[in-house]
Amino acid sequence: MPLPLLKKSGCKVNLLLNVLGRRPDGFHELETLLQPVPLFDELSFRTAPSGIVLTCGDPRLPADPGNLVHRAAAAWLAAAGVRDGVRIHLEKRVPLAAGLGGGSANAATTLLGLNELFGQPLDGDRLARLAADLGSDVPFFLQHQPALAFGRGERVRALPPFDALRGRGLLLIHPGFGIATPWAYQQLAQFPEALCGRPGRAARLVERLQAGDLTAAAPEFYNALEAPAFRKFPILALYQEWLRAQGALAALMSGSGSTTFALTESQDTALALEHGFRRRFGDSLWTAVVALA
Ligand code: C5P
Repeated sequence: MPLPLLKKSGCKVNLLLNVLGRRPDGFHELETLLQPVPLFDELSFRTAPSGIVLTCGDPRLPADPGNLVHRAAAAWLAAAGVRDGVRIHLEKRVPLAAGLGGGSANAATTLLGLNELFGQPLDGDRLARLAADLGSDVPFFLQHQPALAFGRGERVRALPPFDALRGRGLLLIHPGFGIATPWAYQQLAQFPEALCGRPGRAARLVERLQAGDLTAAAPEFYNALEAPAFRKFPILALYQEWLRAQGALAALMSGSGSTTFALTESQDTALALEHGFRRRFGDSLWTAVVALA
């Protein structure tokens, strides 16, 4: 049997998610700033005589055609006109329904993986279109840089890494419950200010980060989807208050939640913060610390 192609599949946090309004197609118009996070799932790909066989180490995740990896593989095989099949295995480390884009990253990595496995028949534009059809966050994960994203999130403008973030510690906290993305967006109807943000906030945050001063940039971090999330889950607001009081440079919910993240001076500071957080809020929560690149 040929060796499988192994690929890492990362995740992201939204340093800013500004909703500009509801669109006629039911989606919401956004400007968002996405930061890649070096915390990885693993995917392996190998050719098979026919069909798509997906296995997954996490039994909570359906390995059937409802899985975004399965849908990405089907879309790629159809677009490339490939009649062979594939076997894909997914090992999850990134939590599910967490606002970290883990599932979107898996879908993008599947498009990239199959394109590599079969000799790169599809170009970047074609992959980007397939990615956008799979989900609003999927195109971002076809590349590995921070990026601004517009439209429903599928129009991605890559940016050079921010010096202000290099080597900073990032603490991620998953509270043990997920938040469904459609629910979070639907609830915005009850929060007119969060629903109709003024454009330009993302560009301002980018400017401040590019100027190199994280402390000056921190007040610009913003997520419109916190409004509904905090009303239903006030513990998330408490987390942020505590994290800031303990010296986090910034604390925010990522995407549609439920993950909270905190930025700190260094990885060591983030580890100390993680320790204190687990002592304060309980040891059964999922937490992780990484250093940003
Ligand atoms: O594109 P994706 O499948 O990730 O979106 C999931 C759901 O989140 C959509 O069906 C929609 O309800 C909501 N959404 C939205 N506006 C966006 C992105 C997602 O309303 N920009």
